[in-house]
Amino acid sequence: MIFAANWKMYLNESDSNEFVKQMHLEKENFVDKDIMIFPSFSSIRSVKDNTLFLPKIVIGMQDCSHEITGALTGDNSINAIEVDACIVGHSERRKIFNESNEIIKRKLDNALNNVASTILCIGETKEEKDKNETFNTLENQLSILPKELHKSQLIIAYEPVWSIGTGLVPSNEYISEVLSYIKRYLNELYSDEICDKILLFYGGSVDENNIKELSKIGNVNGFLVGSASCKFEKFKKMINAI
Ligand code: 13P
Repeated sequence: MIFAANWKMYLNESDSNEFVKQMHLEKENFVDKDIMIFPSFSSIRSVKDNTLFLPKIVIGMQDCSHEITGALTGDNSINAIEVDACIVGHSERRKIFNESNEIIKRKLDNALNNVASTILCIGETKEEKDKNETFNTLENQLSILPKELHKSQLIIAYEPVWSIGTGLVPSNEYISEVLSYIKRYLNELYSDEICDKILLFYGGSVDENNIKELSKIGNVNGFLVGSASCKFEKFKKMINAI
């Protein structure tokens, strides 16, 4: 089971360093665990440098530019700094930054071609769920996957928009049904050998109280956790629970 912390814009560089210092002090909780951390872009360098005591840790970008280089003030290329992973298509990018499937596809391709692990986030809004359009939405969001996967490990993170930051968590059955749908979609697109390597995560209001129960879902390989992953004690509890 993989624990992925999406720190969003919650922790600045000094908060991130403080967090990592705590991890170092209690490193026996983390050494043999599969942990991914996605700090703010400006904290990536310090988090990378200060987590060298964890040989398995993966540090990544929360997003990348749709371009590799060029006149894009304020944007960050996937090659801006050496990272192991990148998230693309997060619902906050889709909604707040109006990112279209077209743009996300270009980001996805950049990540897949340049880093070891790429997380594509997908998920339906409350309105789409209420109109029974969940699978249509997911199909549309998955339609940007390339025909072939070569370099990067692909992770699909199912994050229902209505669950992010709301405390509302779908039932294990609901999540499992959606993950099975995603698996069927992937099976149509890729060979069994490739499908076996693709991982499925759940994200949305995961915390130290529900993660154990959520980890009973048969087809979930990990969690992408936002606000609860920014509090050291919660982070530690969640990692120890799975
Ligand atoms: P919360 O865990 O804060 O609901 O956020 C989930 C998320 O968006 C992770 O990418």
